[in-house]
Amino acid sequence: MNDITAHILSRLTTVPDFLSGESLCREFRITRSAVWKHICLLRSDGYHIDAVTGRGYRLSGLTGRPVQAEVEPFLTGRRFGRNLAYHTVTASTNILAKAFAAEGAPEGSVVVADSQSGGRGRMGRTWVSPPGVNLYFSLILRPPVPSVRVPQLTLLVAVAIHQALCKLSADLVAMIKWPNDILVNGKKLCGVLCEMQSEPDFTHFVVVGIGININQSEFPALLQDSATSLFLERGRLFSRPELLASVLNHFEPIYDEWLLEDDLSFILPYLEAHSLLQSKEVTVDQLKRSMSGTVRGISRGGELMLESAEGEAILVSSGEAHLRTALS
Ligand code: BTN
Repeated sequence: MNDITAHILSRLTTVPDFLSGESLCREFRITRSAVWKHICLLRSDGYHIDAVTGRGYRLSGLTGRPVQAEVEPFLTGRRFGRNLAYHTVTASTNILAKAFAAEGAPEGSVVVADSQSGGRGRMGRTWVSPPGVNLYFSLILRPPVPSVRVPQLTLLVAVAIHQALCKLSADLVAMIKWPNDILVNGKKLCGVLCEMQSEPDFTHFVVVGIGININQSEFPALLQDSATSLFLERGRLFSRPELLASVLNHFEPIYDEWLLEDDLSFILPYLEAHSLLQSKEVTVDQLKRSMSGTVRGISRGGELMLESAEGEAILVSSGEAHLRTALS
């Protein structure tokens, strides 16, 4: 969608009634026939637009796609999501966002895609990203903090997503699984992949990639036991633009507060109250080793605090945690 078409769409979403063709001509300094061409482009893109002689144009149906014009009406923050680039398909929104960030895109810019051909998960895994159903987006941050603090962002984002989900569906029991997953009924609903470009005491930028399974009605056989969606859990469809905006709305103030703090103390009560792993026996797999113990909490620096069978305190800074069943 070109810039003027997108702006006309934005204008149409913000007026409750008809917008005259004349005012669009004036605002965008284009002819009436050019306005009409943009309206036709929007219609061919799936928007329902009424055209009435003497009154102008009125948007009567949205597409439900997470495009700027459909996300913007739900945004309440000042920065996050105000600059949003939508792609029908891309390899990975994280890859695109890193390129934008390297070119100087401002903090709060978002890259969102309807589908990803090479969606990436943690630990080299892929993130299955079919079109038309879920959210795949990446947020660009430029936190003025040393790179050692950056991993804490994953937990902050998990809190924001958790809050957005609870707001949208109050009876959904979602749990945060350290460090980056949201699970419902033991299955994964959402994952976060943070990537950064930094030097030890300077962070150039961080790209926070978020995938949320929203309206997907079935998963490939391999994922059926481990993945779920809001649709499968609640039995109804959810608005992708609204949820995207809500995650950004919740995250912006949490992020701003974190920048003023030295650590995660301010958010630990929330994290622990909704932690899947709290007080559970777990094994955490890292690339070359694994550690087991009972989860005693999350440290102010974001590490998982384990107590081993021998009573030794272990701080785990990264890895994949698994609940240990009675048999294992
Ligand atoms: C995980 O393994 O849990 C993290 C999954 C992160 C997936 C999201 S989808 C949007 C962004 N683009 C990617 O390629 N990955 C992240």
